[in-house]
Amino acid sequence: MSKVNKTHAQWSNRFAYILAATGAAVGLGNIWKFPYIVGENGGGAFVLVYLFCIAIVGVPVMIAEVYLGKKGRQSPMRAVATIAKQYSVSNCWKYAGGMGVAAGYLILSFYAVIAGWACAYVLQSATGQFDNATPAQIQTGFAELTSSPLTLIGWTTFMLAITAAVVAKGLQQGLERCVRYMMPAMFILLLVIAGYSASYGDFSQALSFMFEPDFSKLTVHAVLEALGHSFFTLSLASGVMIMYGAYLPDETSIVKTSIWIAIADTLVALLAGLAIFPIVFENNLTPSAGPSLIFETLPLAFGQMPGGQIIGTVFFVMLVFAAFTSAIALIESSVAWFVEKKGYGRVASAVLSATGLWLLSLLSIFSFTGATWANFDIMSLQFSLFDVIDKLTSNIMLPLGGLLIAIFVGWKVRQNDLAAELKLPENAFKLSFILLKYVTPAIVLIVFIYMTRIINLFK
Ligand code: PFF
Repeated sequence: MSKVNKTHAQWSNRFAYILAATGAAVGLGNIWKFPYIVGENGGGAFVLVYLFCIAIVGVPVMIAEVYLGKKGRQSPMRAVATIAKQYSVSNCWKYAGGMGVAAGYLILSFYAVIAGWACAYVLQSATGQFDNATPAQIQTGFAELTSSPLTLIGWTTFMLAITAAVVAKGLQQGLERCVRYMMPAMFILLLVIAGYSASYGDFSQALSFMFEPDFSKLTVHAVLEALGHSFFTLSLASGVMIMYGAYLPDETSIVKTSIWIAIADTLVALLAGLAIFPIVFENNLTPSAGPSLIFETLPLAFGQMPGGQIIGTVFFVMLVFAAFTSAIALIESSVAWFVEKKGYGRVASAVLSATGLWLLSLLSIFSFTGATWANFDIMSLQFSLFDVIDKLTSNIMLPLGGLLIAIFVGWKVRQNDLAAELKLPENAFKLSFILLKYVTPAIVLIVFIYMTRIINLFK
């Protein structure tokens, strides 16, 4: 394959890339969403299915995406277009990359809002507002936060502004510098909380809840959720991995780094579960509390336990760090696109991109605050604009994007080129290629059809 012009900077080294990509992968999905979906779906059996999805679907799609980025060396849509041209296949494939960027952009529009809740909780915890609070007080506090447009707009603006500020500084001075400090800090904070939780909370019940599978609790919906979440948590099909792959140094191995990133992401999710569930069980709280698990349930425990004010603050600081290193990844593809396509500078591109996101975030904010224009009741189905964005991205755009990328790399890219880049032993390559070409598309397609059926059922 001919050499493509490098229009981008590169990560300074392999470790910087692993940190940045792990930072992109580890986020609200690991600490906020993973524990509550494990809780909702009955624990151990769900965790097993999730691990299976990460290994069989997540890792091959990640390898495919990083490959596209590394070979295309541009923002996702243009990278895919370049490769499609090299293999003389339809230019329409570029929309698989474009859809990823659109999905990432839409996701960030609500991701920044939820990261804003975490910022608000840092302050609340640090100022002792959870101390000895009753469940009713904590619920009211959460309801007040999520129903106040001005507070939400304030925190979201803060999140988007610092995200844009870091990304505007460029790859090595901005993104790389930020993850170099934030990722180790986040990981240490998580270990501190998990250690505390293990000694203070009901660790053995947490262990058996998470690791003793009870397959009678596994539903079709749980399997779908596990697959969908494996895309979400690894930041797949959202433009992120193609974009970060575009900055990969030539000599860096795609396969090894992808496996490391998947392992680190999974470890953080499991550790987050081990940090949260012991506290939940110790305090007789419900693990299946849903999205409010860490915002309503945990503060209750923080308010009661010794040193809870500090541990609570540490917990939410860690959550903000995790969300932030994902937010910079989610905005990067759109910023790079403005730079490449429109020729704007990085500062102007970051400001433009963040302004668009800020406007879009209002849709989610007003969904939460209950504004009538953002909440609907159609044919006795109640949903909000946030629900539309969330379901559209997680249930449709991410799996569809993953499917298209696996098909493109598995069927359109020349096998020899892929083998030359991945440098795997022959049998390992054959196995990975079969996964990418047949297994991944088949699994995603089945899940996708189920998803659409479930959506239809709800209509
Ligand atoms: N992977 C990150 C998380 O789990 O929070 C952020 C993320 C990136 C979510 C890309 C979804 C996505 F499509």
